[in-house]
Amino acid sequence: MSVVTTEKQDNVLVIIADNPPVNALGAAVRQGLVDGIDQALSDDDIEAVVIRCDGRTFFAGADITEFGKPMKGPSLADALDQLEASNKPVVAAIHGTALGGGCEVALACHYRVAVPSAKIGLPEVKLGLIPGAAGTQRLPRVVGAEAALPMVVTGNPISATKAHAIGLVDKIVGEDSLADDAIAFAREQIGKPVRRSSEGTANRDGVENPAIFDEFRQKNARKLRGFEAPEAAIQAVKAAGELSYAEGVKKERELFTRLMTGTQSAAMRHYFFAERAANKIDGIDPKIDLIPINRVGILGAGTMGGGIAMNFLSAGIPVTIVELKEDALDRGVGVIRKNYENTAKRGRMTEQQVEDAMGILTPSLSYDDLADCDLVIEAVFENMDVKKQVFSKLDAIVKQGAILASNTSYLNIDEIAAVTKRPEYVLGLHFFSPANVMKLLEIVRGEKTADDVLMTAMKLSKKIGKVAAVSGVCPGFIGNRMLSPRQEQANQMIMEGANYWEVDDVLLEFGFPMGPFQMSDLAGVDIGWHRDPERIETLRDALCAAGRWGQKVGKGFYDYDEARNRTPSDEVKQIIAEFAAKAGNEQRVISKEEIRERLLYPMVNEGAKILEEGMAQRASDIDVVWINGYGWPLYTGGPMFWADTMGLDTVVAGLEQHGLPVTELLRDKASKGEKFNG
Ligand code: 3HC
Ligand code: NAI
Repeated sequence: MSVVTTEKQDNVLVIIADNPPVNALGAAVRQGLVDGIDQALSDDDIEAVVIRCDGRTFFAGADITEFGKPMKGPSLADALDQLEASNKPVVAAIHGTALGGGCEVALACHYRVAVPSAKIGLPEVKLGLIPGAAGTQRLPRVVGAEAALPMVVTGNPISATKAHAIGLVDKIVGEDSLADDAIAFAREQIGKPVRRSSEGTANRDGVENPAIFDEFRQKNARKLRGFEAPEAAIQAVKAAGELSYAEGVKKERELFTRLMTGTQSAAMRHYFFAERAANKIDGIDPKIDLIPINRVGILGAGTMGGGIAMNFLSAGIPVTIVELKEDALDRGVGVIRKNYENTAKRGRMTEQQVEDAMGILTPSLSYDDLADCDLVIEAVFENMDVKKQVFSKLDAIVKQGAILASNTSYLNIDEIAAVTKRPEYVLGLHFFSPANVMKLLEIVRGEKTADDVLMTAMKLSKKIGKVAAVSGVCPGFIGNRMLSPRQEQANQMIMEGANYWEVDDVLLEFGFPMGPFQMSDLAGVDIGWHRDPERIETLRDALCAAGRWGQKVGKGFYDYDEARNRTPSDEVKQIIAEFAAKAGNEQRVISKEEIRERLLYPMVNEGAKILEEGMAQRASDIDVVWINGYGWPLYTGGPMFWADTMGLDTVVAGLEQHGLPVTELLRDKASKGEKFNG
C-alpha cells in the first residue's frame, strides 16, 4: 500500500500520509506529497487541499535513518516549494507532534489548523542540526524572529494553544473532528489570495531590534555551551530578517550542510537511536505482560528516597514512604514539599499540582504499610548488612507478586536478592542524585530477575520521565564502575605534579559540567570519612581534618565565596605537596593532553571490560548512562562513541603510552579497525 493516498471530498483534495510509526518524511512520503499537489493542480474540480496524517501523529520530521545516505526522490525543500507555490489553498491538519520537517511541511502550507493536544516544534538542534527545508526562513516570516528564536535554537516544541497565540496555527479545531474541521476551514479559504509563509513580513522585528539575538545568546549561554547547532540556528533566524527569502534559504542550506557533515551531529544522531535502543532488552519480548504498578513504596526518606518518591508523585502514582523515626520522616516529607513549592514559585507547577502530588503521598513509620505496594524501592544506608535485614523484612511483609528494588550504588543485587524467597522479583533501580532531576535510571538485572519484572521497570521508567539502561551486577554497575578509573587517575596526577584545578578544567573544557574535585566538593569531601581528625592516612583524611568538608562548609579542595565561586586554595596545594613528598613522587608539569587522555581513556577501557563481561547489552547503552547520569557532553556522543571517533587504535596507543591497562576486547577491536558502535 502507498504511504500517501488522496481522497476527493467534493472540491477539496485530502492528501493523507500513513507511514508508521511517526510518519517520518522518507523518500516515498515526499514523492507522495509532490504527486498529491500535482493531482490537485491538474484537477479542475479541486479548489483547495488538506494535508493530514493517519496514525498517532502528523509528520514527526525527516526520516533520520536516511541521513548520511544519498538522497532518493525529491528533496523535502523542493517538495515544499512546489507545495507552497500552489495557487489553490493548502491547509495542514495537525495532530500529535509536528516536528522538524513536519513543522516545515505545516509552514509551507498556506494555513494550519491543529487539535488542542498537538505539539509543534523544530527539534533539529537536538540532532546537532538546524531545519533544512526552509524552516528557519519561513517560521520568522510567520511568527517573528523573537518568537522563532526559542523554537529553532532550543528545539523544544510548543503547544497548539501557544502556536495559535503566536500566529503559527490559524485555528484550533475539535480534538475528534480534525479531518472534517480542516476540510471546512479549507473551503473558507477558497477564492481568497493564497497566503505564503515565504512572503510573510513578521521577521521585521529582528531587523528593528537586532539586540534580541545577543540577549538570547547571553540568556542561554550556559545551556548552549559547547554546542555548534544553536549558534547556527541563531544566525539562520537573523538571516531571515536581513536577507531576501531566496538568499536566506541559501544561507540555511550552507549552515545545515556544515552541521550535517560535522562530528557533533553524527554524535547526537547516534545518541537519538542509542536512547531508544536502550529500552530494548535482548531476549525479552517487548509485548510481555507487565506487572501493574498502582502504588509504590519507598524505604528511607533521605537524599535519595525523597527524590525518588517525587518521580512517582509527579506522574500521579501514589507513594507510601517509610522511615525509622518521626523526625527523619518529617524532614524527608518537608523537603519534598519544599521542592515542589519552589517549582511552583518558578511557575513550572500550579499550587493545585503541588497539593495533588502531596495528596497522594502517605508518610509512615511502619513497614506494614508497604504490604499492598506493587513495587518497593529501598533507599536506606549503603551497607550490605542493613540492606539484607531490610530485604528479609520486606519479603515477609510486602504482598507476593510485588517487586522489591534497591537503589544501592555499588552493592551486589544478587546477594541482596538471596535473602528473600522471591529473588526473581528483586532488581536494582539506581537513581542519580538529585533523583527528581537527573534523567538516568540504571536498571540492574540480577541473575534471577524475571523478564516481566525487568520489562515492567523499563516501561515504568518512561512513565516517570527517566532514560533507562540495563546493567548487569558488578561493583558500581555501568556508571560508577567507569567513574572509578577516572578518579584514580585524577588522584594520581595531582600527586605527580598536576594542579587539581587543571584536572577539573580539562574536563570542563571537554564539556563536562564539573571536574572530579569540584564534584567531590559538591558531594561532600567527608562522605565515608572515618571522622577521626588524628588519623591522617589519605589526602581526604587530611582535608577533612582541616575542616575542608566541601561546598557545604565553604571550603573543600577549593575555597568558595557567597556565590559559590571557587578559587584554588594554597592550603590544599600545600597539603597535596606534603603527601607527594612523603610518597617520594617526582613532580613534573603534566600537559592538558596527558590529563585528558589519562582521565578519559581508562574509562573507555573500563567500558570495553563491561562489554566484554556482558554487563552492558551494547556499547550505546554505556553512552546513554554517561550522558544522562554524569554530564558527559552529548555532542561527543558518549564515551564509547567518542572513542570510535578518536579511533580505537589511538585510544590503545594512549593507554600504552601512559602505562595503563588495555583490555582484550579493546585491543582486538583496535587491531581490526573496528568500532564499538556499528
Ligand atoms: N526518523 C526515523 N525514525 C524515527 C523518527 C524520525 N524522524 N522519529 C522517530 N523515529 C522512530 C524511533 O526511532 C522509534 O523506532 P523504534 O520503535 O524502532 O525504536 C519509533 O520511531 C518511535 O519513536 P519513539 O519511541 O521516540 O516514540 P515516542 O512516541 O516516544 O515519540 C516522537 C515520538 C516525539 C515523534 C519522537 O520519536 C521524536 O522526537 N522523534 C524525532 C523528531 C525529530 O527530531 N524530528 C526532526 C528530524 S530532523 C529534520 O526534520 C530535518 C529537516 O529539517 C530537514
Ligand atoms: P541518606 O542517609 O540521605 O538517607 C537514608 C535514609 O534511610 C535516612 O533518612 C535513614 O533514616 C533511613 N533509614 C535507614 N535505615 C532505615 C530502615 N531500616 N528503614 C527505613 N529507613 C531507614 O542516604 P542516601 O544518600 O539517600 O542514600 C540511600 C541509598 O541510595 C544508598 O544505598 C546510596 O548508596 C544510594 N544512592 C545514593 C546516591 C547519592 O548521591 N546520595 C546516588 C545513588 C544512590
